[in-house]
Amino acid sequence: MKCFRTKDLVSMESLTTADIVQIFELTARQKKERAKKGANKPVLEGKVLGMIFEKASLRTRISFEVGMLHLGGRAIYLDQTNFKLGERESVYDVAKNMERFMDILMLRTFSHQAIVDMARYSKIPIINGLSDDEHPCQALADLYTIIEKRGELKGQKLVFVGDGNNVATSLAYASALMGMHFVCASPEGYTLKNEVVEKAQRMAVLGATIEATTDVREAVKNADCLYTDVWASMGQEKEKEIRAAAFREYQLNESLLALAKPDCLVEHCLPAHRGEEITDGVIDGPNSVVFDEAENRMHVQKAVMTLLLGRG
Ligand code: CP
Ligand code: NVA
Repeated sequence: MKCFRTKDLVSMESLTTADIVQIFELTARQKKERAKKGANKPVLEGKVLGMIFEKASLRTRISFEVGMLHLGGRAIYLDQTNFKLGERESVYDVAKNMERFMDILMLRTFSHQAIVDMARYSKIPIINGLSDDEHPCQALADLYTIIEKRGELKGQKLVFVGDGNNVATSLAYASALMGMHFVCASPEGYTLKNEVVEKAQRMAVLGATIEATTDVREAVKNADCLYTDVWASMGQEKEKEIRAAAFREYQLNESLLALAKPDCLVEHCLPAHRGEEITDGVIDGPNSVVFDEAENRMHVQKAVMTLLLGRG
């Protein structure tokens, strides 16, 4: 059996192409097993997942909690009213407490460094459930959904339209590792950071290409998958109006979709702000796979937890 190499899932950067292939193989097996037999083998029986949320969540909380139930384990939810990492007590002290109670820990934080530090201090596996910098579980679900629909990732053109944010960053790294052509099209001032583009380009294998541009109409030409996300992420609420003005030409609408391949997939991590970054016609249209993507969060995370806990 192949050995899963990494202790934590903090960034897409901490994975290799082989790790992602292994995650996707187990995802497919566990998903098929549940569909066929109505249940999974309880490979995580007796295991406890802790979940720390400094920001709101629908999908991440539910998909981890239900995923753990499917595999015979339990999940415990701690929100920001009980918890402010580094405020009530230090990240180090939280880490040293949590490892005494939990087998695995998922965190959604503002600070990416807090998750990096938690992984460094903890003996137990740490999963990034979204930070200001990255959303690796989301990128895994997004790429897995493309494989389900298209059968492969290598050579697929994935165009992210909107803010060069946490989701775009994880998608850039994941695309680099899986031989895809990734383009992030954003208005001036909101493009994917140069350091992210350069790092993703250094990570690129299997002919992958990574690009950031402001020319959205050129970017979406020939796309196999168009992706968008909110213009103001959690923590940026005060910038909502100024961002709405800056992003107006970057709405994923019918006229933009018409420039991509006719069977182009439409992805969105959700929550969506309908009428802002995406129109009802596009998110509810025949190209949209957004709810398959949401469900696949659970399937890929089940595989990630199984592998991180050495039960794959
Ligand atoms: N896509 C995603 O992470 O959704 P939530 O913010 O609802 O968890
Ligand atoms: N970029 C968004 C993603 C939400 C899942 C945010 O950080 O709020």
